[in-house]
Amino acid sequence: MKISASFLSIKDNLKENINYLTKCDIDYLHLDIMDGIFVKNKTWDILEIKNLINYNKPLDVHLMVSDVYKYIDEYQELKPEFITFHYEVDLDIMEVINYIKKYNIKVGLAIKPNTKINEIIPYLPFIDLILVMSVEPGEGGQQFIIDSINKIKELKELKGDFLIEIDGGINIDTVSLISDVDIAVVGSYITSGNYEEKIKSIKEKIYG
Ligand code: DX5
Ligand code: ZN
Repeated sequence: MKISASFLSIKDNLKENINYLTKCDIDYLHLDIMDGIFVKNKTWDILEIKNLINYNKPLDVHLMVSDVYKYIDEYQELKPEFITFHYEVDLDIMEVINYIKKYNIKVGLAIKPNTKINEIIPYLPFIDLILVMSVEPGEGGQQFIIDSINKIKELKELKGDFLIEIDGGINIDTVSLISDVDIAVVGSYITSGNYEEKIKSIKEKIYG
């Protein structure tokens, strides 16, 4: 299981702390991008992001936005490994998938806790990653929604050629429930203490 670290909950010295985080033993840097419309909070704009991040680790962009095309155009410039957008946006999903592919970037499709796996089955052959939200998108530090485990099981049973990522409420306890996923997004658990030690503790839990 790979770790994608979210810096959403870092409060102070963001740039320095992101720099430190990306030197730790993580696999991806997870960028939580919110527009104040799709979710009520708003995060950084692209110029701020360009100033804040570095490229020590591959980027995993999670767009919680309504105007998806505008953000894809902006974030493709960072050459991320994945751009993930939400199934719940009011757009033609297949068109958005193809739009991201044109930039030669891997496509992720995210689903909120109330969205059923059945709804996204038609898109699975065309995407690289499915992001199962295990909290309502919008903020860090929330509690893991236990039903997410059933969604992971359902996805595993489909045996498709896509990665499974989970996002929200992952910590030293909940990580044991999700051993089947390919990528776990971990935010406040890591950034609420000594990053290096927290990452080590979660990896020990995964690999024993
Ligand atoms: C929530 C974000 C998550 C979140 C993860 O909307 O998509 O990436 O920051 O943070 P924790 O691990 O604190 O739930
Ligand atoms: Zn996220």
